[in-house]
Amino acid sequence: MRQFLAANWKMHLYPIEALHLTTALHKGWERHGWTLPAVLFPPAIYLRELVALLSNSRLQVGAQNGYPGEFGAFTGEVSMAQLAHIGVKWVLIGHSERRQHFGETGPLLRRKLQDAQQRGLSVIYCVGETLAQREAGQTFDVLQVQLEEVLSDGAIAWDRFVLAYEPVWAIGTGVHATPQQAQEVHAFLRAQLARLGAPAEGICVVYGGSLKPSAALELFSQPDVDGGLVGGASLEASSFLQIAQALLQARS
Ligand code: 13P
Repeated sequence: MRQFLAANWKMHLYPIEALHLTTALHKGWERHGWTLPAVLFPPAIYLRELVALLSNSRLQVGAQNGYPGEFGAFTGEVSMAQLAHIGVKWVLIGHSERRQHFGETGPLLRRKLQDAQQRGLSVIYCVGETLAQREAGQTFDVLQVQLEEVLSDGAIAWDRFVLAYEPVWAIGTGVHATPQQAQEVHAFLRAQLARLGAPAEGICVVYGGSLKPSAALELFSQPDVDGGLVGGASLEASSFLQIAQALLQARS
C-alpha cells in the first residue's frame, strides 16, 4: 500500500528539544504498534544522535540537504557519502526553500539525486509552483519542467524514490491546498512519472504545505495523496502523531 510520512524540522529546535521530540515520536509509534514508514529530517547537527536513538525504531532519519560526492573543497557542505556513512537513509532534494534562498536549479538537483541514490540513499524529490505561477495558469507546465529536468533520462532507483508536491504558496502560510487541488496535481504528477518510465502506481506522491491534523484526513482520503511532508506541525509530537493517525485511518 502507498503510504509515507515525513517530518521536515527545517532550521528549528535546540538539542534538548530535538531529543524530546524524537523520543516522543518513537514512543508514539511503539505504543500504537505502527508499521507506517516515516522519516525525520532534523538539522544536520542532530543526524548522528537521531540515527543512534532510532536504531531500533520504525522511524528513519533523513538529511535536509547533501552535496554530491565524497570529499572535496566545498566549505560548509556535507556530502551524500558522509551522510550514508553515518547511517542516514534519506535526503530531501529540490525543496522550494533550497531553490528560492540558495539558488538551486535543475542541473544541480539532478546531480544530487543521482549521487544520493548511487550512494544508497533514498530521496524525496520536492516540486511545487508559486502563487504567481498558479494564478497565471502555469502550474502543470512548471511541475512538468521540475520533473523532467531532474528525472528524465536518468537511471533512477524508483524503489528508493518519493515525490513531494509542495505548492510554494502553501508552505508556512497556514493555507493548505484543498483536497481537490491536491488530488488534481497528484494525479497529474503520477501520470508524468509514468511518462518518464517510472512504475508510477507504486510510487508514493505525498503532499506538503501547511499540513495540519485538522486537514490531514480529508487530504489523505484522496486516491493519489499517499501521505505528507510536514513542516511546522511536525515540531510537536502530538500533532505529528495525529497526522500519522489520519493517514492510517484514510488508508485502512
Ligand atoms: P509547513 O508544513 O510548515 O507549511 O512546511 C511544509 C514544508 O515545507 C515541508 O517540507
